[in-house]
Amino acid sequence: MSLLAPEWTALLYLLAAVCFILALKGLSSPKHARRGNLIGSLGALVAVVTVFFSIKLENIPLILAAIAVGSAIAVPIARKVKMTQMPQLVGGFNGVGGGAAALVAVLELGHNDDLWVRIAIVFTMLVGAVSFSGSAVTVLKLQELITTRPILFPGLPVVMSVAVLAAVGAAVMTVIDGSWVWPVALLVLGLLVGIFLVLPVGGADVPIVISLLNAFTGIAVGASGIVLGNVLLLVAGTLVGASGTILTMAMAAAMGRGVTGIMFGAFKGGSTAGSTTQSDRPVRSSSAEDVAVQLGYAQNVVIVPGYGLAVAQGQHTIAELATALEARGVHVVFGIHPVAGRMPGHMNVLLAEANVPYESLKELDEINPEFKNTDVVLVVGANDVVNPAAKSTPGSPIYGMPILEVGDANQIVFLKRSMRPGFAGIENEILFDPKTELLFGDAKESLSKVLSAVKAL
Ligand code: TAP
Repeated sequence: MSLLAPEWTALLYLLAAVCFILALKGLSSPKHARRGNLIGSLGALVAVVTVFFSIKLENIPLILAAIAVGSAIAVPIARKVKMTQMPQLVGGFNGVGGGAAALVAVLELGHNDDLWVRIAIVFTMLVGAVSFSGSAVTVLKLQELITTRPILFPGLPVVMSVAVLAAVGAAVMTVIDGSWVWPVALLVLGLLVGIFLVLPVGGADVPIVISLLNAFTGIAVGASGIVLGNVLLLVAGTLVGASGTILTMAMAAAMGRGVTGIMFGAFKGGSTAGSTTQSDRPVRSSSAEDVAVQLGYAQNVVIVPGYGLAVAQGQHTIAELATALEARGVHVVFGIHPVAGRMPGHMNVLLAEANVPYESLKELDEINPEFKNTDVVLVVGANDVVNPAAKSTPGSPIYGMPILEVGDANQIVFLKRSMRPGFAGIENEILFDPKTELLFGDAKESLSKVLSAVKAL
């Protein structure tokens, strides 16, 4: 097989890098996220194909077999995964990326004597291993295969510090000493650090840690670009590292928490370790017909969607309800909290799927002043993002998170199944407000009933 001239390889890598940058640009808004994703995939395809034609590869059948096995596992998982399980999927794929970067670095260890390259190798091994095991624990937590609460044991901070120091020591020894003991120790210690890092993180903070580990994988892959002398890996890894860091900070800010508070807050007892028990305080429950009357005869309605809407897959019904209300002359908008649901942009993606126009989606700062002119706010499967404890209760796990101020509206209607709390596991006082009514049931079923009742008005 004849190989591409180096200029062509460089040009194709440049094309792939431009695709990655355009992909990130596309992903910055739900309007063109799909296109961004496709451009990114195209860039990755160009990069992989270019590798085949630019280097004299050994073991091509093995490489092709690995690609086939990887695709056979990943494609069905990615196709079947539910939108609400997306953070786990991202966590799983991310962990595999970190692990792969670490293994590639191990292979390079045997035939590299350059000091700087060896430093890049041990860095890739350590960060990749941390990302692999940390991601594995987050997947287990998000899939609720282990408790979602912080896992702490006496002396964890000390054990963690010792593991980090030992890992740094093993990294230094791997650089200067040729013995196989050090790289093995480095990998094992890296895996332990990843586990210790994520165990104390619980509740609403787990998806943020996925984003942080994603940044770690990016940095590990970038360093493996130095190891392999591959500029494109360096560029792609740096992009992932930078975007993952920005996303982590944005998510933390949207929840009113600092990144260090998220990672180490449990040591001080300040994490989102709420309860899951139901309240038995009395509330006003309502019927679909009553809710339909309130909505149908209102002038201004704000719909606040949350995680429960995604679980119930009620996005199409909610879009139909909004259209039916608008046909009656009711002004309807959606109030979107930046961390409603379980991943960034969750509600935007969900409502875009149901063709809700972007102009109807109002962000927190835009909608909050409008609640005092709102006749009815319909809270569908949302809880934490409207919980006033974020403002009024300093010890609360969500304290400091900006919320949608639904309490300012004239009437509040909640659609939920029970009195169970939201993700942070804390009671929501607004459910007991005299202005609040609850329509109990699955969000999609309740919305269908309200829709029929509105049409019958
Ligand atoms: P949550 O506070 O988790 O509340 C969801 C509500 O939906 C619950 O009250 C639940 O009550 C209800 N529900 C569940 N399934 C339902 C169904 N089939 N039909 C009707 N209702 C249903 O959701 P939220 O207000 O969207 O807040 C998101 C939470 O996730 C926040 O704590 C946030 O910090 C956290 N978080 C989000 C992100 C991102 S980036 N989005 C990242 C990390 C953490 P019932 O069980 O009684 O029905």
